[in-house]
Amino acid sequence: MRITLNDLSRFKDPASLTWERYVALQARERERYLAERAAIPAEAMAYQTVSRRYLERAVDQFANNYYSELSATHYIATAAANAPFDELKKCCLFQLADEQRHLEMDREVFERAGIPERDWLPAWEAPGTTCRFFRHVLELDDTIEILVKANFVAEGAAGPGTFAVLADGAEARGDVFSAVNHRARVRDETRHISFARVLVKALIEDDPANLEVIQRWQDESLQLFVEVARGGERREWWEGFLASYYKIALPLGLRPSSLPV
Ligand SMILES: [Fe+2]
Ligand SMILES: [Fe+2]
Repeated sequence: MRITLNDLSRFKDPASLTWERYVALQARERERYLAERAAIPAEAMAYQTVSRRYLERAVDQFANNYYSELSATHYIATAAANAPFDELKKCCLFQLADEQRHLEMDREVFERAGIPERDWLPAWEAPGTTCRFFRHVLELDDTIEILVKANFVAEGAAGPGTFAVLADGAEARGDVFSAVNHRARVRDETRHISFARVLVKALIEDDPANLEVIQRWQDESLQLFVEVARGGERREWWEGFLASYYKIALPLGLRPSSLPV
């Protein structure tokens, strides 16, 4: 099922980025990030401030972070390559640069926490992770479907709200480096959600029949996340996840998905 935007004037990058603006914005973000990072005590950077139990359990979370970002670099590159018009391609290309930085931050967390690389992928492939969703997105080649599923639904859900929960949770357990990293990516993720939101709105205004296709993509995507919510521990995360997504989706005419959780 493919949908397309006929009236291209309906889509404008809400961040109005140009290469020059993007580079300036990231230079400021980088300065802020490096200052926050420099303030982290050496023992915290060496993961000596967290308990052994925290590290054992955090491997799953680290894998969810790292492989989501790694997946993002791949699917957004596909989205850029197949973009149906230049304004959208530009948004994808800036996002590609963002996701590459996020990926490197998450790789460093694994390395500093001393977790051997052979343990990373098995943690990601275990039940209860976001692996199933991202593997699905990696099989797609249609730019609009990728952006609706990954940026609008998944980032819209996992965006600002859950990164704040993750940052606070990590900090409370002595993992200051993860907390700084989570807070550093929030503004980028917010921008990825914003342009996807503008795209979805444009598609619905362009042809109201597009709403049903987007609804189906939402249902498919959320269904692939259901297993992450199982087990009770992530209940709070799941509630926040759905709440952030519905906050942007329902005003556009989408309906909550019926999910077996
Ligand atoms: Fe990211
Ligand atoms: Fe992103």
